[in-house]
Amino acid sequence: MIGVFDSGFGGLTILDKFLEILPEYDYIFLGDNARAPYGNRSYETVYNYTLQAVKKLFSMGCPLVILGCNTASAKALRTIQQNDLPNMTPGNRVLGIIRPTAEIIADYTQSGKVGILGTSGTVNSKSYILEIKKLYPKIQVYQQACPLLAPLVENGEIDNPGTDYFVNKYLNLLLSQDSGIDTIILGCTHYPLLMNSFKKFVDSNIKIVPQNEIVAHSLKDYLSRHPEIDNRLTKNGTVKYFTTDNSTMFDQTAKLFLNRDIQSRTIEIF
Ligand code: DGL
Repeated sequence: MIGVFDSGFGGLTILDKFLEILPEYDYIFLGDNARAPYGNRSYETVYNYTLQAVKKLFSMGCPLVILGCNTASAKALRTIQQNDLPNMTPGNRVLGIIRPTAEIIADYTQSGKVGILGTSGTVNSKSYILEIKKLYPKIQVYQQACPLLAPLVENGEIDNPGTDYFVNKYLNLLLSQDSGIDTIILGCTHYPLLMNSFKKFVDSNIKIVPQNEIVAHSLKDYLSRHPEIDNRLTKNGTVKYFTTDNSTMFDQTAKLFLNRDIQSRTIEIF
């Protein structure tokens, strides 16, 4: 199976596109809702939590795990890939979602000025700046942390004036950094749920880029280039959902993200 991990619900927006673009595969989604949000947590904590989740997903039969969370991708992916994977099941892989987003960004911007909205953890890690600069040294990257948005989404506070206030505030803080910004990456898997709010406050000539479609196409490409992984993945079109918190609560909020009913199970990963 393909394991998709997130601190909470946000990774469901990533999983949803996988199900649309790669429906033949089997998936396990794992949300660490008991300890979400990760966005304001330290490097060590995000790394430890993410490593526990990766180990769990490996043990559940996932040779490939996608960190469907920018904060985990920013703060844990590199260390897990470099230090932990070599001592774990040979051939298993962990991928993140920042690199594939960075790879495609030149297709969107014409001014060469890109804004990133994300959690404090993602923004402070400077991962987007590093990844984009590696590939496109001339693109200028501006960032704004939005520490309240993921918690608002986790609590189902979507499409209401309170949330709009903070979306507008964070957008102003980003766009006032340079009037030439023509592309905004929603660098947090929770933010596509706030797309209506973002669109209210952004001129139509500025592109707002959610990541899920980009990441799904990138995974498709990865699997076609890595038959050694693809051959280890079963293809019966199933998906199982697990949460570290109460499963009834998970199922209710997951409906907001997926627009359909699901049934999750609670597991311990720590
Ligand atoms: N899903 C996380 C991300 O994409 C944000 C939520 C959190 O703070 O845990 O960054």
